[in-house]
Amino acid sequence: MGSAKIIDGKAFASQVRADVGRKVSILKESQGITPGLAVVLVGNDPASEVYVRNKGKSTLEAGMESYEYKMDSTTTQEDVLARVDILNEDKRVNGILVQLPLPKQVDADAVISRINPEKDVDGFHISNVGLLNTGQECLTPCTPLGCLLMLKDYFGDLSGKHAVVLGRSNIVGKPMGSLLLRENCTVTTVHSRTIDLAIQCQQADILIAAVGKPEMVKGDWIKPGAAVIDVGINRVEKEGKTRLVGDVEFDSVSEVAGAITPVPGGVGPMTIACLLKNTLTAACRQLRIPEPE
Ligand code: GUN
Repeated sequence: MGSAKIIDGKAFASQVRADVGRKVSILKESQGITPGLAVVLVGNDPASEVYVRNKGKSTLEAGMESYEYKMDSTTTQEDVLARVDILNEDKRVNGILVQLPLPKQVDADAVISRINPEKDVDGFHISNVGLLNTGQECLTPCTPLGCLLMLKDYFGDLSGKHAVVLGRSNIVGKPMGSLLLRENCTVTTVHSRTIDLAIQCQQADILIAAVGKPEMVKGDWIKPGAAVIDVGINRVEKEGKTRLVGDVEFDSVSEVAGAITPVPGGVGPMTIACLLKNTLTAACRQLRIPEPE
């Protein structure tokens, strides 16, 4: 085992969730308001089913209402859009999350565009993306927000740090770059077509690995003392057992890095905690009331 500090996302996430829970009880007691989150799952992807179950459980634990809509894998785009329309109108629902990926007959961009941006707790609607990229108040994608909270907790000020974001997805890589720019980092985005990936990663004070390739980032890609945030959740067969590994080779990287998030127990729990935080924020904005202190 290496010398890197292990960033305990699970412990940090329970603090965030407890804070959301406390604010939800203030809202209930002072105004009789209970925020609600609706999650739509289309099809039966096993990983998505696990995520959706965990989201529902955590929502209830934070004292909020959880509404789950399971739709068949053959559901048409019109039916998904009709469900979104109903949830947009439903006053009990403050947050709407449509679990991705969607089956191939359903156009994810069209579905995301249909969600009322004020209820878009994923922060995927182009209006929230635009607000984020222009540095304005918005609902922020949960995984990058969770990564940022852990980095700020570890470093304090991030100004001037060189952040390398490995991956360019709309869910993680792109919004992560925007958030780090907003914190005055120097941001480089690298991806599968980048020449000399290892050399680029070696420049990073902060490395965010979000490519979905099991244990791709090796110890000799890391600048000594860097903070490494592993967003990957990959199921692999090892010694006859199914194991969860990240995009980072934990043993070799933790020999060199200053800090590292484990998989599981790093970014994953923070994503759910940030979803609850966004749902509370969305509820207060929709009702035009300040978020409890
Ligand atoms: N699939 C994987 N991550 C996410 C996420 O953050 N939000 C949604 N809606 N789907 C996902």
